[in-house]
Amino acid sequence: MKPKDILKQAQEGKYALGSFNFSTAEVLRAIIESAQAAKSPVIVSTSEGEADFFGLRQAAALVESWRLQTGLPIILNLDHGKSLDKIKQAVEAGYSAIHFDGSKYDYEENIAKTKEAVDFVKSVNQDIIVEGELGYLRGSSSLHEEILEIKEEDLTKPDQAADFVQRTGIDSLAMVIGNAHGVYTQSPEKLRLNRLGEIKAAVGGQVFLVLHGGSGVPPEDVRGAVELGIVKVNVNTDMRLAWRQGLEKSLQESQDATPYKLLQRSYEAVREVVKNKISTFKT
Ligand code: 13P
Repeated sequence: MKPKDILKQAQEGKYALGSFNFSTAEVLRAIIESAQAAKSPVIVSTSEGEADFFGLRQAAALVESWRLQTGLPIILNLDHGKSLDKIKQAVEAGYSAIHFDGSKYDYEENIAKTKEAVDFVKSVNQDIIVEGELGYLRGSSSLHEEILEIKEEDLTKPDQAADFVQRTGIDSLAMVIGNAHGVYTQSPEKLRLNRLGEIKAAVGGQVFLVLHGGSGVPPEDVRGAVELGIVKVNVNTDMRLAWRQGLEKSLQESQDATPYKLLQRSYEAVREVVKNKISTFKT
């Protein structure tokens, strides 16, 4: 199945796919086996840093082996690609989706750079999904003790979103509607669902709507967002925290140094997170 058809199916079925990050083989296995148990298509992602650790070609080869073994529709996505060079490498390696994050640039420059990414990817392969990003997404995929403050000007503006989609030719739009990367212990993220509704009305059904920062958002807010048309929810921190807790427990319990034994709890913990997320995203 083509990557766009997988997302289209989600759009029509009114559910979202999880986009789960990985940088190690047992996390990838946990994501895919959890999705397989839920009979759900899945998106697996590497950020630039995660891809540098794992290897772009190695990620593509391993994901392909999981496709063959499970028969599951699996999209391999470059998450927050920041340079055209990295995007070229990911496309060459065989990634099926690219997220170009030009949100640090001013509006016109973001449009120009995103369009450049779209034009390049589509010139190589029309079937690869390209996602652009508009709005200022705060945080990083870890635990934060400070209070999260999302400002009105951080949010994606509906009229700009429509213009951005039209001028860049992206397939998917990542937006800021109260979401942030990471888990905030002092201030859970609160989604502005009204804003999502306005963005959707402005861009129409021509583009897939994406929610980053899927950790730390109350499940009822995520469900509300999926009901309003979000088809991809990115998750990283919740899996990282589960992975670490699993490893800590193993290290406390045993003096063993066998990697596959030490990583068993991490594998199980990540698998459980993915299971719960998939069930939330099905609304
Ligand atoms: P979280 O780390 O908050 O889950 O966000 C992940 C993400 O959006 C990756 O692009």
